[in-house]
Amino acid sequence: MTAYKPGDPTTINRLYGRAKGKPLRQGQQGLVDRLLPQIAVPAEGAVTAERLFGHDCPLHFEIGFGGGEHMAGRADMLPDHGFIGAEPFLNGVAQALTHVDGDNGTRPPLPNVRIHHGDALEVLQRIPDGSLSFLYLLHPDPWPKARHAKRRMMNDGPVDLFAAKLKPGGEFRFGTDHAIYLRHALMVMRRHTDQFEWLCDKPQDFQKRPGGWPETRYEAKARNVYGHEVWYFRFRKR
Ligand SMILES: C[S@@+](CC[C@H](N)C(=O)[O-])C[C@H]1O[C@@H](n2cnc3c(N)ncnc32)[C@H](O)[C@@H]1O
Repeated sequence: MTAYKPGDPTTINRLYGRAKGKPLRQGQQGLVDRLLPQIAVPAEGAVTAERLFGHDCPLHFEIGFGGGEHMAGRADMLPDHGFIGAEPFLNGVAQALTHVDGDNGTRPPLPNVRIHHGDALEVLQRIPDGSLSFLYLLHPDPWPKARHAKRRMMNDGPVDLFAAKLKPGGEFRFGTDHAIYLRHALMVMRRHTDQFEWLCDKPQDFQKRPGGWPETRYEAKARNVYGHEVWYFRFRKR
């Protein structure tokens, strides 16, 4: 991937795969029609806490939230923080809207979530530098073939962008269950040690789920159905 140059979107490739799966159920379609426009990230212009939530607050950003379990879980834990999630897969967005809407009445709706149905990097570029307290990249698409390695989200261009958008002391959380991706990601992050410090006390730390890290559906399936190990990383922006 070409190195990310601020303000030059041509330096970021389109990374995502399929955008639509099974037809949505009626309730899900209703949420896409009614709730999504109310909580969508504006299509243009700067993306700030004031603009999205009407006041300053710590900002979190999740890349490719899948069904939105982690994003909704975090937003429920931290009601005074603002959460932005981006996901191009419509069925995932519909699932996330169910969580934001209160999981069919099992919990109150989440007022602190905004969603972008599309490419995370497009929105990330519109967030002013040094604004994010947390950035999450959980089980990114592995693109396991070597010739597709440039499509992986974890690459120098996006990682430079992550570094630019996080505040000093902000946290980048990355999780994967894919051994090829793990090796690739660690090699990429070794090239960014001037920007990120790996938060790890003991070697086993990356094998244990840190507190405040809700499990995603994808992660649960990787572990319970495929018997995969899952690896967790926290990097602090210097
Ligand atoms: C393997 S899934 C994992 C989903 C979720 N993070 C989880 O752990 O359950 C990877 C997700 O990344 C999304 N994705 C891929 N490229 C993306 C991009 N450029 N911006 C936002 N999401 C992206 C895909 O649509 C997919 O839902």
